[in-house]
Amino acid sequence: MDKIRIRGGRPIEGEIPISGAKNAALKVMAASLLTADTLRLSNLPHLADITTLANVLAQHGVEIHMNGAVGDGGHAGRVLELTAREITNTRAPYDLVRKMRASVLVLGPLVARAGHAEVSLPGGCAIGTRPVDLHLQGLSALGAEVELRDGYIHAHAPKGLHGAEVVFPLVSVGATENVLMAATLAKGETRIVNAAREPEVGDLAECLVKMGARIEGIGTDTLTIQGVERLGGAEHAITPDRIEAGTYAVAAAITGGEVDLIGARADHLRTTIEVLGRAGVAVVETERGLHVARANGRVKGVDIMTEPFPGFPTDLQAQFMALMSVAEGASMITETIFENRFMHVPEMCRMGANINVHGASAMVRGQTKLAGAEVMATDLRASVSLVLAALAAEGESIVNRVYHLDRGYEGLEAKLAACGAEIERIK
Ligand code: UD1
Repeated sequence: MDKIRIRGGRPIEGEIPISGAKNAALKVMAASLLTADTLRLSNLPHLADITTLANVLAQHGVEIHMNGAVGDGGHAGRVLELTAREITNTRAPYDLVRKMRASVLVLGPLVARAGHAEVSLPGGCAIGTRPVDLHLQGLSALGAEVELRDGYIHAHAPKGLHGAEVVFPLVSVGATENVLMAATLAKGETRIVNAAREPEVGDLAECLVKMGARIEGIGTDTLTIQGVERLGGAEHAITPDRIEAGTYAVAAAITGGEVDLIGARADHLRTTIEVLGRAGVAVVETERGLHVARANGRVKGVDIMTEPFPGFPTDLQAQFMALMSVAEGASMITETIFENRFMHVPEMCRMGANINVHGASAMVRGQTKLAGAEVMATDLRASVSLVLAALAAEGESIVNRVYHLDRGYEGLEAKLAACGAEIERIK
């Protein structure tokens, strides 16, 4: 298994191109199941999760053509053409779904287009139980008969789906997306109330509109969809990855460096920028993206609580904790989205961080320095938080289980090395 070796202590300085957002790309790819025409997607990141979903879609009958890479400055957003002329198979098997929970996003499109689907339950996950009950509630409201049997979700709508009001009791990105996709082909009007407002949901909705869907309220917590008979092909460029941008902003801050995040969007990162500002890290909008620089001296401890968008993203919680572990003063970090999302804590403590977890909150007492160590992580964002801590630590660190990073960070070592990090992959 690959490892990453880092010698810490060098400031991260330079330009970092921000890739297309994994969490938008996956949903937009799933939307290809809704039409017999070709969906041409650009700015796709080159990541293991994208390949996993491509494999899921291929076995449903989607023809996929990779059409080279576009971009400049070393950034190679990929172009994929997806054509689901016919749905040849409506079953998403356990073997594929268990690799990546987001595979459950084929459920809504398959039921809407083919009238039925059998999708494996994704099962447990390192960051909590993560049920799919809201996805199923939403699809049932649109008229699908849903049954759980043999570890699979069986959904049927032989006469097609119909519009309905779907009121989510809590904000779910995935459930909003599944119901949104299904509703585009349902008969009549669907209203999704308490919809997730994450920019990735907005990106999916905008792509669906290009395909001919009628959606109002994009970017708000109420989406109104008028179902149409059929959707067509479209061209769409995936929105930049706000979590990747936030991660590299922390890399600059934690090492006392200065970076330009090319393509990053301030409107997707307002809360993060505000929190970094309070910690003493200046993030300024430029013509090409965002400029991040730590003001003189150590960063200051600030409290955060993760929340659905536009609140502070749970996907940046671990990275922010790495930053707070070397801040002046203390920081209380509260995780409200996922239980069990503090698995990076014991590993950071092995590098000299002082962190105490009480339920959903972690008290971080900033230290003047961290020390390199051999560490491992159990999920994507936890892994990258250890890379960040290692960039700031004295001496050498080895980060194990790098496959987590490959799921979500395109060219991580190359991007950091180009900015002065001493980082290499050990095969
Ligand atoms: C997506 C992102 C993930 C991010 C998360 C929150 C993708 C591929 N993943 O995950 O990186 O951390 O949004 O921003 O886009 N819940 C239920 N029942 C459900 C669905 C969710 O109880 O049917 C709960 C979850 O357990 C969690 C909360 O709702 O506590 C939010 O989860 P959700 O927004 O659905 O996350 P994902 O879409 O899985």
